[in-house]
Amino acid sequence: MTTPDFSQTKACVFDAYGTIFDLVSATDRLSAELGEDLAPKLGELWRTKQLQYSWLRSLTGHYTSFSDVTRDALDYSFEQLGIKNPALKEKLIEGYRALDAYPDVKPILAKLKQAGLKTAILSNGSPDMLASGVRGAGLTDLLDAVLSVEDAGVFKPDYRVYQLACDRFNVSPAAICFLSSNGWDAAGAASFGFKVAWINRNKLPIERLPGKPDAIIRSMDGLPALLGLESI
Ligand code: LAC
Repeated sequence: MTTPDFSQTKACVFDAYGTIFDLVSATDRLSAELGEDLAPKLGELWRTKQLQYSWLRSLTGHYTSFSDVTRDALDYSFEQLGIKNPALKEKLIEGYRALDAYPDVKPILAKLKQAGLKTAILSNGSPDMLASGVRGAGLTDLLDAVLSVEDAGVFKPDYRVYQLACDRFNVSPAAICFLSSNGWDAAGAASFGFKVAWINRNKLPIERLPGKPDAIIRSMDGLPALLGLESI
């Protein structure tokens, strides 16, 4: 990989789920009720079905809100895993609206603001889910915008979603540093034309998709160096 050039960056735009918010916290909190074995299995299947439904609905033109998609994915996962506990389902849905933020998020957002950069979330999440997550994690004052695919009526990685960030900040794609822990989202955003840093939190292989990230970091702590902000 050649030295990445993020020198045109005016705004840092973050994916939400898996990037800002720790998805594992949704099922981890209820692992006593779910059982140590079932909690991670449910977490993985729930996320897999959630993403599949988002992509399939985009392909077939049947957009519905991410909160509906998230609930449908959980319904499916409960049935596949033979979990029969409606009260637990409601608790999981409620918990998804108040996920833990990764510990590296707040200090890095503060550093970006201090450097005069714009900051935003750009997510599949519905506005209500995102608003409660941002509030719960205490990120409200550190974000200039919380952008939802709801305004595009289609899910990532459709380019109309990435365009929302350009429109919001009135900049070209190259002026946006996009950060996602989801490899497929990083690939889509790079194809669109953003400068992309893939936060490879889970040490996964790179996606075999068009669009490669400009940089790969292990956590948000790698971001200031990419932007030349180490001394701040
Ligand atoms: C999001 C999903 C893709 O926040 O994680 O958009």
